[in-house]
This record gives sequence, structure tokens and C-alpha cells, in this order.
Amino acid sequence: MIALCDGVEIGYDDVGTGMPVAFIHGFPHNRTLWAPQVSALVDRARCIAPDLRGFGESSRHGPFSIDQFADDVAMLLRLLGIERPVVVGLSMGGYVAFALWRRHREMVRALVLADTRAGVDSEETRAKRIALMEVARTRGSGAVADGQIVGMIGKSTRAKRPALIDDVHRMLGSASVEGICGALESMLGRADSIPTLPTIDVPTLVIVGAEDVLTPVSEAEILRDAIRGSRLEVIEQAGHVSNLERPAAFNHVLSEFLAALDYE
Ligand code: MLT
Repeated sequence: MIALCDGVEIGYDDVGTGMPVAFIHGFPHNRTLWAPQVSALVDRARCIAPDLRGFGESSRHGPFSIDQFADDVAMLLRLLGIERPVVVGLSMGGYVAFALWRRHREMVRALVLADTRAGVDSEETRAKRIALMEVARTRGSGAVADGQIVGMIGKSTRAKRPALIDDVHRMLGSASVEGICGALESMLGRADSIPTLPTIDVPTLVIVGAEDVLTPVSEAEILRDAIRGSRLEVIEQAGHVSNLERPAAFNHVLSEFLAALDYE
């Protein structure tokens, strides 16, 4: 489906009934990232999965920033009449979740922060992002996918489920150059979310793949230690896209978390 949010088309899925859960994808993903979660939860939850602007079926034009991504998600949720969803963000989707919390916290019932980090980029990461923009502009999204796929999937999955590498590569390679460059600029310009962590006072689940090399377990521990009452679940034998690599394990901890919210 497509919604018009302030002149920008936002592609999204809105399926299922029950507790609303908004799923925010990472870089350079699209909403299909969440297919294993949406299909597992559809009987229990209303699952809303948008394509961030620049990705999937959404408009490719800016302005691009993490705050803008968060405002787009907030506007979509309001258009759909959804109040206080559980917000699930993976990696860059986690950066967007932090921005949603800062800018629209009245809308956030609970947070699930998967394979993400709160701090800003190191100088080395900044240089890599700038180089990646050049790769996107000169060689296209296929070349970006070739570079990104390496760190995206954990070593156990690479050994046991090589077909997933092709699936994820296909998703990365389908991203538009506008979206890739817009998201890279957004991540370069993003706010430090470390000071945000102690302000989070909704139930929070932190998830990380044990083999995540992009946002390792140590980053997830920073979130767990700074967010009062939060819980950390480490998914063994999974890398950065832990929700795709070990969907049953990921869905199990997510479902448990959602079920506990029902009793609040
Ligand atoms: C992602 O998966 O969204 C990216 O790894 C985030 C990043 O590059 O910081």
C-alpha cells in the first residue's frame, strides 16, 4: 500500500489485528526485511512496516535525515489512526526509533532495539560512508550491495544458509542510489543518542546477533546498561540481520516481550 505523507509517497504493509507494532528497517533495506516477523505475528498484532523514504516503494526524494525518517513514520502512523505502537527498529531503524522517541515519544508504547547502536560514527566510519556514496553514484546499488553484504550476515548463517546471502544481496541491490546517498547523509548527520538512553521510560527489549560485526554485542550492552529496566537478548549464531538469520529465535523473544506488555 502507498500513503501520501506531506507530499511524499510512503510504501507500507499494514496487516494483522491486535497490538500495533511498527517495524523500521535498516540500511539499505526495505520493509521486506520484516517478512518473517510480520507473518509470525499477524494473528496477534497489527504489523505496520513502512519503506523509509528513498527505499522500496517510497518516494526517492529528500530532504533526508534521521529526524525526517522519524517524522515520516509518525505521520504514517497518525494517518493510519495508530496510537502508541511498539516500535521495532533494526540498525539504522534503531537510529530512527531513537529519533521517534525524542520527537514523538507520546506515540511510543515500547521499544525493541535490534542490532543497533546509540553513539555517533567514528572518523573511520564517516570516511567509509563518504566513500560508499561515491560507490553508489559511480557504480550503482549493486556495487553497494557487494560491499555491504560482507558484514551484514554472521559467519554461522554464511556457512549454514548460503541462500540467505543471495536474498539479502537482492534486497540491498534493489535500493535506489538516491535512497542510499540520502540515508548515508542522514546517518552522517545523526544526533548522538547516548544522552537519550536515560530518558527512555517505556519497556525496552534490546536484541543482538552474537556474531554481529557491525553493531556488536558490546553496543547492545551499552543500551541495556543505560536504559532503565531494559532486557538484552543475544541471538546465538546470528549476525547483523538477526531477524532474518534466526527468525524463530528472534520471533520468540519478540513475542514474549509483546505478550508481557499485554499484562501491563
Ligand atoms: C544498517 O544495517 O542499518 C547499517 O549497518 C547502519 C549503519 O551503517 O550504521
